[in-house]
Amino acid sequence: MTRFAYVNGRYETQRSASVSIEDRGYQFADGVYEVIALWNSCPIDLLGHMDRLERSMAEVKFPNPPSRTALKVIAQELVRLNRMGTGILYVQINRGAAPRNHPFPGDHINCSVVMTVRHGLGPSATEFQDGVGLKVEEDLRWLRRDIKTIGLLPNVLTKQAAKSVGAFEALLVNPDGTVTEASTANIWLVGADGILVTRPLGPEVLGGITRARVMALAKDAGRKVREATFTLDEVLSAREVFLTGTTTFVLPVSKIDETLISNGYPGEVACDLRDRYLTFLNSHNKETSWYVG
Ligand code: PDD
Repeated sequence: MTRFAYVNGRYETQRSASVSIEDRGYQFADGVYEVIALWNSCPIDLLGHMDRLERSMAEVKFPNPPSRTALKVIAQELVRLNRMGTGILYVQINRGAAPRNHPFPGDHINCSVVMTVRHGLGPSATEFQDGVGLKVEEDLRWLRRDIKTIGLLPNVLTKQAAKSVGAFEALLVNPDGTVTEASTANIWLVGADGILVTRPLGPEVLGGITRARVMALAKDAGRKVREATFTLDEVLSAREVFLTGTTTFVLPVSKIDETLISNGYPGEVACDLRDRYLTFLNSHNKETSWYVG
């Protein structure tokens, strides 16, 4: 089936869509992005993704960022054109195209806006049921990981390092020995006291939209959540470990390097939250899920 993409004002087939070689996203990774889940044709947590996208664009000082209403209209058209049921919507906004020069090109240059879709979403049934393995890697990223920038080379390298040993994800550890997150997801542990712990928001981790959603679901279910930094040793000796993210949902971790977590099986809390998150996905409807404020 032909896939359609949106590029700078035009809907085109994905095959023919192109951007300028002087686009600053291409030259400098001078761009930001969002990955938004589509579930039964409904965007999931669209408002949160729009808030984060606007924040990212403000943090990198785009002078003329597109409005969220304009982005929503494009996204709706792309979902319609591609007959999207379940999959992802990818939104990338770059500073624009201009002759290569490090300083900003000036306010007269418009951002470039690209949107694409992909069918299919979420971990496999086996990953969901058995849990996944992680590989410990040094966190090589810059100091503003809260900005969802397209400069993802460290994420790519660590994800590949994990894949090369058959692990699902890389568990990223700062030089100070504290764990930050995974290369494409946030990480959580459940301590011996049953309290859920995840790293506080700040420049060292991405403020995951799924992280926020799962935190709310956990609290609604009467669970205690603590935002605190933790070490690799604490993760390895945790009662349970799990990941959250747009493409991972809530995913139990059963192994980290050679250490089994929860005796090598998905933990009870992770499974409960995984199921609650699926219920949350199924609760969306087309009337309300496109609300962007
Ligand atoms: N990544 N941390 C990092 C480094 C991420 O790249 C992501 C998401 C997350 C989870 O954030 P959210 O819950 O908002 O998806 C955490 C997306 C899926 C990606 O780059 O493909």
